[in-house]
Amino acid sequence: MQPEPQNPPAGAESRAIAVDATRLISELQTLAGFTSAEPSTAGTAVTRVVFTPDDLRARAWLKRLAEAEGLAIREDAVGNTFFRWVGAESDLPAVATGSHIDAIPHAGMYDGTVGVLGGLEAIRALKRSGLRPRRSIELVLFTSEEPTRFGIGCLGSRLLSGTLDPGKADAFHGAQRGAEDETLAQVRAAAGFAGTLPSVRLPQGHYHAWVELHIEQGPLLEREGLPIGIVTAIAAPASYRFTIEGIGGHAGALLMPDRRDALCAAAELILSIEKHTLATGAVDTVATVGTCDVYPGAVNSVPSRVTLQLDIRDTDPARRERVMQAVRRDVEAIRVRREVRIAESLVNADDPAICSPHIVEVLDEVCRGYGVQPKHMVSRAYHDSLFMARIAPIAMIFIPCRAGVSHRPDEYAAPADIALGTRVLASTLGKLASE
Ligand code: GLV
Ligand code: MN
Ligand code: MN
Repeated sequence: MQPEPQNPPAGAESRAIAVDATRLISELQTLAGFTSAEPSTAGTAVTRVVFTPDDLRARAWLKRLAEAEGLAIREDAVGNTFFRWVGAESDLPAVATGSHIDAIPHAGMYDGTVGVLGGLEAIRALKRSGLRPRRSIELVLFTSEEPTRFGIGCLGSRLLSGTLDPGKADAFHGAQRGAEDETLAQVRAAAGFAGTLPSVRLPQGHYHAWVELHIEQGPLLEREGLPIGIVTAIAAPASYRFTIEGIGGHAGALLMPDRRDALCAAAELILSIEKHTLATGAVDTVATVGTCDVYPGAVNSVPSRVTLQLDIRDTDPARRERVMQAVRRDVEAIRVRREVRIAESLVNADDPAICSPHIVEVLDEVCRGYGVQPKHMVSRAYHDSLFMARIAPIAMIFIPCRAGVSHRPDEYAAPADIALGTRVLASTLGKLASE
């Protein structure tokens, strides 16, 4: 299908931006084919854990697409990949966009991928419009936005923005059951990314502006019938690991009064987390225990050790910390009453990010030009943009996703919404690149 010219946004530098929605949707489908997920009747199931063969094949495919557009490609030591359309004044800080293509187990096909392939299509659309950008425009593919493999999200953008100590990161261990012995150093070397991690960091001011396109992963845009959200702040995530150690034994022979069952203690801990999170009464406080590894994991064996991963988020980090303090008081009580050991370790505790009022204004202006009323909103999901905000002015564009569903095979975003989000992204990048 030939791209249809769309109404150009208002403004002196406006020009017709034509997004090829058919190609973009077909590329999203191709990307969804790089997966190790079991097929699902609910939708398109995608599992693409960082540096697995599917991830590496997807990266190679994406590089071929970018090469076909004549973009200059650079990869850093952790696998963050940069696709640059060199501007007329190539020494100026570039304008950048991007997201991730890794997917948690049994996820959908739009999380992250819309920002990467939408970013590529935005660059193509700007090229087709005849724009010669003053600043370079760069598409960034981040490594491991999802915490699946190493237990920490946004690995690539944390290192890039200097938010994570590169001296520690190479020793990160596998977080998936059965892969605890692998380290980031080994895994990235095997994937062909051999440089030193300190070299990943980019300085403050490296980018003039950063804009990420993403599905909302919540229901508000759909409920309000609005096609575009402009993110004004990103909530602050934290994650912790708890290891509970009790005493195992024979499920028939070990008498109930003598038990020090680690899983029963873990169950109390999980319910304590839920109770104190609900007790804040705040819709913005959310906590999830998403993994629970039980050792030795046999139906006829009393659990002797359990490891839990907790994800807790809030727009107010002080309130998030108050929940943790209440949980710690319960942990102490559980430990004494059940005679088990409970160790807590912090994986990350991040601050929220505030988006740039200037980029938000540019986005508002672009939306007005398209006759679109955007919704200003907070992102409760985290994104690489949270860390890009440490080194650059940022904002995000959200598009609706059906029923707010994400991290599931039935995640869905309508082609028209993807196309509009991409068009808004393209116009915004074009305007920012002319500054
Ligand atoms: C990102 O995937 C998140 O968990 O918010
Ligand atoms: Mn995700
Ligand atoms: Mn995402």
